[in-house]
Amino acid sequence: MAEQEIAVETRKLMRTFGSVETVHALDGVDITIRAGEYVAVVGPSGSGKSTLLNMLGALDSPSSGDVLISGKSLGAVRNLDRFRSKTIGFVFQMHNLIPTLTALENVAVPLYESSMRKSERRLRAEELLVLVGLKHRLTALPSQLSGGERQRVAIARALANEPTIVLADEPTGNLDSKNTAAIMALLDELNRTQGTTLIVVTHNTHSANMARRIITLRDGKVVSDIVPKDVYERDLIEFRQSGLGQALVEENQVPEELTEIAPALGELLRKV
Ligand SMILES: Nc1ncnc2c1ncn2[C@@H]1O[C@H](COP(=O)(O)OP(=O)(O)OP(=O)(O)O)[C@@H](O)[C@H]1O
Ligand SMILES: [Mg+2]
Repeated sequence: MAEQEIAVETRKLMRTFGSVETVHALDGVDITIRAGEYVAVVGPSGSGKSTLLNMLGALDSPSSGDVLISGKSLGAVRNLDRFRSKTIGFVFQMHNLIPTLTALENVAVPLYESSMRKSERRLRAEELLVLVGLKHRLTALPSQLSGGERQRVAIARALANEPTIVLADEPTGNLDSKNTAAIMALLDELNRTQGTTLIVVTHNTHSANMARRIITLRDGKVVSDIVPKDVYERDLIEFRQSGLGQALVEENQVPEELTEIAPALGELLRKV
């Protein structure tokens, strides 16, 4: 992990709005996210979550401070549109699909910037719709799809250019709990199988707990940056099942210092 490439970094990131009544939407945010991480961003309404995501995606510029994507400062990027479309995929709460285009055509939209031929674009869009479980709805218009299906199309579109980073702002905000779970499972799978760095803003505690790291904002500041408890438990169970974990339990040799650092580890390892 330690030497893994840094995907996203912010340095003393500030964004203020307004001149009469100044709002400090982001007030000195320093975060580092490594390639392949799955991070949830949570916090009260108005805490700066969307502002942060917009900054990371170069949709907005800092008042001061810096955003680095894969080590490169966004301030130094010459063609931001091109950089954005090659590197970053966006999924918004309002899916922003084009109503007059089919699912397939919507997914193919970002591919027009590539040098792909029409047949290649079609094939790629089709592959992506298969990936998100919409093989049977290729020619449906957005109005003919359910909310969850529309959001799947939006995710497929976000992935079209094979972005290394996917930014999702409340991607399940207007979905019921069943569709929310399905979309979150899909994002989780993309992160695990494709290694996509995933940053998801969510109000939903259950969705946040699916991430491997939760960053909480309040008044434009990072107030906590934690690994959810069940991720520790998942890691502990994996360790318990590993060769070393099994050997330690069999020989009843859970090292003292290990149980001191993580009491749950000792407890878990002793449960045979
Ligand atoms: N374009 C803008 N002009 C003025 N103020 C803005 C603008 N965009 C955001 N703000 C202010 O910045 C603060 C942070 O807004 P932001 O949209 O980032 O919050 P959020 O955490 O995403 O909230 P929510 O959960 O409601 O989506 C808020 O006080 C908001 O009113
Ligand atoms: Mg928001």
